[in-house]
Amino acid sequence: MKSIVILISGRGSNMEAIVRAQPDGARIRAVISNRADAAGLVFARDHGIETAVVDHRAFASRDAFDAELATVIDGYAPDLVVLAGFMRILTDGFVEHYRGRLLNIHPSLLPAFPGLHTHRRAIESGVRVHGATVHFVTPDLDCGPVVIQAAVPVLPADDEDTLAARVLEHEHRIYPQAVRWFVEERLTLDGAGRVRVRDEGPAHGCIVPPLDADLRTGP
Ligand code: GAR
Repeated sequence: MKSIVILISGRGSNMEAIVRAQPDGARIRAVISNRADAAGLVFARDHGIETAVVDHRAFASRDAFDAELATVIDGYAPDLVVLAGFMRILTDGFVEHYRGRLLNIHPSLLPAFPGLHTHRRAIESGVRVHGATVHFVTPDLDCGPVVIQAAVPVLPADDEDTLAARVLEHEHRIYPQAVRWFVEERLTLDGAGRVRVRDEGPAHGCIVPPLDADLRTGP
């Protein structure tokens, strides 16, 4: 049985997707937030999952916050720590402590658009394809070996909200998939820092929108 701790800061819809899809052999031990008012905590409690709050504002430094956060997390002895909209920059020491067992989801096709406001920046830059990435966390912000990505088209009529909603729908598919791979011990990091997924099937960790039928078949 793999123990999982999920970290959130707000709505928690990715956490919810993972809880709903919880694969055999996994147990969500706790949902932890840095904000007491994170809406996702209510869903977790309603589903009988332990919750905890470590309020970053109560700590004088990032190091002190991360140390307490790690103490609370480690109290659950997790095999996997899942960042699901956890909006804190983590110290190198924290990331190193969870090396190989810390996943994050980011709303862009990394390495494009790390950081905030990814949907607005995608529209402003004129890219035709945007998406989401699940990756192992490394000390650099929104960086690290990619586990799975989903691509969505950027449509001419899109604004930040419509594009965010289209991406989020796919986030809710790829994050549970990545967690399932981890739980089934199918994820490995090769020497070059690339993720390999045993028996991953035809999608190869990549979900893309279907092409128009005429593009697929050609003239
Ligand atoms: C998600 O879109 C997630 O990809 C993003 O925050 C949102 C959280 O939503 N994460 C980041 O931007 C991390 N850099 P949720 O609380 O409903 O899961």
